[in-house]
Amino acid sequence: MTAEIALEKLKQRRRPRRLRRTPALRELARETRLSARQLICPLFVRPGRGVKEPIASMPGQFRLSLDQLPQEAEELLSLGVPAVLLFGIPEHKDETGSEAYDERGLVQKAVRALKREFPELVVMTDVCLCAYTSHGHCGLVRDGEVLNDETLELLEKAAVSHAAAGADVVAPSAMMDGQVQAIREALDEQGFPQTAIMSYAAKYASAFYGPFREAADSAPEFGDRASYQMDPANAREALCEIELDVQEGADAVMVKPALAYLDVIARARERVDVPLAAYNVSGEYAMLKAAVERGWLEERRAVLETLTALRRAGADWIITYFAKDAARWLQEDFR
Ligand code: PBG
Repeated sequence: MTAEIALEKLKQRRRPRRLRRTPALRELARETRLSARQLICPLFVRPGRGVKEPIASMPGQFRLSLDQLPQEAEELLSLGVPAVLLFGIPEHKDETGSEAYDERGLVQKAVRALKREFPELVVMTDVCLCAYTSHGHCGLVRDGEVLNDETLELLEKAAVSHAAAGADVVAPSAMMDGQVQAIREALDEQGFPQTAIMSYAAKYASAFYGPFREAADSAPEFGDRASYQMDPANAREALCEIELDVQEGADAVMVKPALAYLDVIARARERVDVPLAAYNVSGEYAMLKAAVERGWLEERRAVLETLTALRRAGADWIITYFAKDAARWLQEDFR
């Protein structure tokens, strides 16, 4: 028998289906695992009492008044979801987004209340101005331009106010250059060296934030966010953004959105050693929900497949509006 024929025989003997034969074998051969322990659930906090206001473009998601948060947190913890990411929808907006850094602001109150009742819950906060400014941009605006360095000071104040309230992790999402370093220095100087930073490092100027902007009432009044958020056509630039943020002191970095950016997640995973988060954003949630409502997709399988794909691409943490449902489905799987 020539060597070539021997090799041919060997190839024929290789049958990948052997390890797919039974559920137990498939379980054993599984390369990627999805766990509720790596999910982060975004929550929207709004003014009022006893309010659980549905968000039309995000079926199953709500704007919650403060008193509704404990129930939500309890449910998440009991399902094994360890973390929440808070967004505030303030009563008043102004030019400088002053409620974003008001120590009696909604998010600050929410952090205090949650940490008091659930010390073990990881409380993360979005640090940005867009939901708080009258113009809806993520920074200060002068002559139609979003200013970078002038904005940093306000982001520092917001982050410090969240840390003072007890946030475990602050998550700057304004895409201002130098925001991670500015926030790290402010936190350290003002006595919060233990507060971690998860940076929205590679955040793209994406159409998939549409439903969120309705939820948070944060759409820009003029123009768009292309002068500070990233061009969807760029991947190398994402690695540059991520490296900069790690150098500036980010404890974890994020790629956002997730689904159309799996290549960016995979490349980032190879480059950095800090935890990598993927944000499965509002538009990704909405399109799946819409297809499910029409009976075109099977929700449980489609959601778990999607979240598994994010883990497979290299994400450690997944920020997703499906957190509660996914955690429930994962529990059922192990019963
Ligand atoms: C704030 C912010 C946005 C999202 C998270 N933080 C909106 C935006 O940049 O316009 C989007 C989240 C989502 O779509 O689920 N800057």
